[in-house]
Amino acid sequence: MSVLIIVGARPNFMKCAPVLEQMVIKKIDFKLVHTGQHYDKNMSDDILLDLGMPAPDFQMGIGSGSHAQQTASIMKDFEKICDKTKPKLVVVAGDVNSTLACALVASKKNIHIAHIESGLRSFDNSMPEEINRILVDRISNILFVTEKSGIVNLINEGQSMDKIHFVGNSMIDSLIKVSKKIKKNTILSSFSVEKKKYCLVTLHRPSNVDGEKNIKKVVNILNEISRKLPVLFPIHPRTKKQLSFYNMTLSKRVKICDALSYKIFVNVLANAKVVFTDSGGIQEETTFFNIPCITFRENTERPITVEIGTNFLAGTEENKILKIFNQIMDGNEKLGKIPPKWDGKSGMRIASIIDEYLKR
Ligand code: UD1
Repeated sequence: MSVLIIVGARPNFMKCAPVLEQMVIKKIDFKLVHTGQHYDKNMSDDILLDLGMPAPDFQMGIGSGSHAQQTASIMKDFEKICDKTKPKLVVVAGDVNSTLACALVASKKNIHIAHIESGLRSFDNSMPEEINRILVDRISNILFVTEKSGIVNLINEGQSMDKIHFVGNSMIDSLIKVSKKIKKNTILSSFSVEKKKYCLVTLHRPSNVDGEKNIKKVVNILNEISRKLPVLFPIHPRTKKQLSFYNMTLSKRVKICDALSYKIFVNVLANAKVVFTDSGGIQEETTFFNIPCITFRENTERPITVEIGTNFLAGTEENKILKIFNQIMDGNEKLGKIPPKWDGKSGMRIASIIDEYLKR
């Protein structure tokens, strides 16, 4: 056994699928491990299917819990998988709890670690993802970077250049592949929206949606936006629970649906006039599609999307967000460029480096 690749939560799938595909081509011996951090069909299996990923070799079925519970449960089970398979390398992606838990186990067992999407920093330690990123990078042996800020951050933290590989963004490989498969646009009418005439919204960060004050603010903003443009809002389970717990009412022009499978989501993303989000990955996907993105956060770990892409870092104040939205509606968009190496070949670069590493 050479390599264990870890997935667990929704964004991991898009980042790992292209690497997996290339590892098959290169005949690298690997097994796929799914922690089960995300488990609903539309948050996991449907996405694996859209990406053409194989069924995981190990399904841990961990599920939800507090950060400590979730991380600890994954660690206990993943240790057993490592003992059984004795991998030479563990590949983790992104910044979710599954990423940190498996990297920690590997590190304590002296198994080398490769981190996909290394070096991103929001410099906001109140975000659980920031803690996960810093710790995983600190103990990883191969650091795969998506944008130049990642190289600078890693060097500033004392990492040596020979561990850092600027490979581009493997999530964009998945985006390119899936968008090629989208042929007919029947999906928009099923949501009663028209091409370039709706605002797509995704919100799930605890700091934005948890608690009455936060969810009320979200509802106000969406209702205001919907006065000018219909809103399509696929709801993450966390946000759905908050809306229903506080009995919030959205305007009829805010069309809500459950979280979407990847192919459908990419379709509604590519056809949106503007996107309002607190996601990390969607800031990158909108930059790739050259669609204005209003990011409902005070900071971003993906500064390239603001510097050369279409992303507006709007903060969390209602007035400021609506001002930016109105600017975009008035035609004041950014002319975005696609960042270097977001070219659909990142999976290939990553797999080649892993292949070389295993031969050492
Ligand atoms: C996690 C990641 C976050 C990522 C997001 C993408 C961490 C710390 N957070 O946040 O970085 O941006 O995934 O979606 O790892 N739930 C379901 N069904 C599911 C999964 C979750 O109902 O399939 C509900 C549960 O009530 C759970 C809550 O959503 O408690 C949150 O899930 P969790 O995985 O803890 O965090 P996310 O908010 O999804």
